[in-house]
Amino acid sequence: MEFPTTRLRRLRGSEAMRSLVRETHLRPDSLIYPLFLCPGEGIRKPISSMPGCFNLSIDEALKEARECAALGIGGLLLFGIPSEKDEQATGAWSDDGIVQTGLRAFKQDRALDRLLIIADVCVCEYTSHGHCGVVVRDGEHYIVDNDASVALLTRSAVSLARAGADIIAPSDMMDGRVAGIRAALDAVGRDRTPIMSYSAKFASAFYGPFREAAGSAPQFGDRRSYQMDGANLREAMRDVEQDVMEGADMILMKPAMAYLDVIRAARERCDLPMGAYQVSGEYSMLHAAFQRGWLEPERTMMESLLSIRRAGADFIVTYFAKAAARVLA
Ligand code: PBG
Repeated sequence: MEFPTTRLRRLRGSEAMRSLVRETHLRPDSLIYPLFLCPGEGIRKPISSMPGCFNLSIDEALKEARECAALGIGGLLLFGIPSEKDEQATGAWSDDGIVQTGLRAFKQDRALDRLLIIADVCVCEYTSHGHCGVVVRDGEHYIVDNDASVALLTRSAVSLARAGADIIAPSDMMDGRVAGIRAALDAVGRDRTPIMSYSAKFASAFYGPFREAAGSAPQFGDRRSYQMDGANLREAMRDVEQDVMEGADMILMKPAMAYLDVIRAARERCDLPMGAYQVSGEYSMLHAAFQRGWLEPERTMMESLLSIRRAGADFIVTYFAKAAARVLA
């Protein structure tokens, strides 16, 4: 049927009508809020490039977590800023590491029962060189050794699961880490702990503000020998397939806004629950425009999140989680 019989505007006439025919929805419980845990007490150190985000000591993080629980947010994604860094990333796998300590505190707080506590698994925040694995010399060059890195990541995953993580989320991009982590978790009786794998994680300039937040910028070189080339959609699908075969329970795509086509393609290819990470640079970029009065904060934020859901993500990791949950309340 053509115009004038068909008039698409008929269904846009009122908010009630638009609401009835709306195809995509946002809900607080499909938002995940990242937190950066640091040592100390009473610490709430602002991250300059990420307005509203902080490095938090565990006592302050607990307050933040309770606020998230009250807002109906689905979960927290924990990152750690250790007091010391070394080549073995000791802080990532020691049982009294900052995230392990935080996890035990979170798990004792009944007010957080409905909040999933997700542990990011990577070593870049804990290594003195800032790479996501073990750096070894290869002739003239330094390389990140895949299999040695998987051994460290596995150790970290086991210690985080033992400390109470509800979900283990490896973000390092080493090959074979999902299988390695699965086997190690099962071997210590953590067969019920799911793995949310960052399947297609691109080497992206949009991680810049995070590296300020976590103090994890590589001291030399870059991450392009392990994170994906932004030009490659087919390779991203291979990465997804590989993680599925290795036993991932959920996948995560990252960044979001510059890679919506990748999210859509993964959705069509894979039946696992899938999240997308609206990364630090996406948040900072929008905030910079909000500060100048160039974009309307609430509508722009909600539109950015909706675009990610429409591309096919079931849930979204976002620094806007609290602000968006307030809008949705
Ligand atoms: C750790 C990790 C990074 C992010 C999440 N996990 C940084 C990186 O790869 O350099 C980035 C998140 C963000 O930018 O918000 N490997």
